[in-house]
Amino acid sequence: MFSEKISRALNDQINVEFNAAYAYLGMATWCERNAFVGAAVWLRQQYQEEIGHGMKLYHFLLARDCDVELEEIAKPNMKFDSLLAVFEDALQQEQAVSERLERLYQQAFEERAYTTLVELQWFLAEQVEEEKTIRDIVKKLRLVQDDPSALLEIDRALGERGGEGVQVQ
Ligand code: FEO
Repeated sequence: MFSEKISRALNDQINVEFNAAYAYLGMATWCERNAFVGAAVWLRQQYQEEIGHGMKLYHFLLARDCDVELEEIAKPNMKFDSLLAVFEDALQQEQAVSERLERLYQQAFEERAYTTLVELQWFLAEQVEEEKTIRDIVKKLRLVQDDPSALLEIDRALGERGGEGVQVQ
C-alpha cells in the first residue's frame, strides 16, 4: 500500500496515459483521412503503447494492493492543419507527460516510496526515447515543408514502424 497522495498521483497518471492514447488515436484518424496512411499506422502503434503504459501502472497499483480509480477520458483533437502540426502536438504532449512524471518521481522520492521510484524509472527512460523519436520526425517534417514527394516518403517510412513495446494484458 502507498500513501493516499502517491496512490492518487499514480491513478491520475493512468488517466494521463489513456488520454495520451486517445489523443494519438485522434491524430491517426486525421492522418488516415488525409492520405497519410503510414503516419496513421505509426500513431495507432503509439496509441497502443500508451494503453500499455496505463495498464502497466494499473497492474502496479493492483500488485501493491491499492484501489484503481478509472476516470473520464477527454474527446481528442481530430483537426490539424498539416502532418507537421500533428507531430508538433505529439511532441508537446510527450514533453508535458515527461514533466508530469518528473514531478511524480520527486513526490515519490520525498515520501521514500521506493517501489514507486523503481516503477517510475522505467517511465522516465521511455519518455527520453519517445521525445527523441518524435522530435526527429518533427525536424524532418520542418525540413521538407510542403514538398509532396518528400512528405509521402516520410509517411511511407513511418508506416514501417514495428509492433514493439509494452503489451496490453
Ligand atoms: Fe506514456 Fe508517451 O507517454
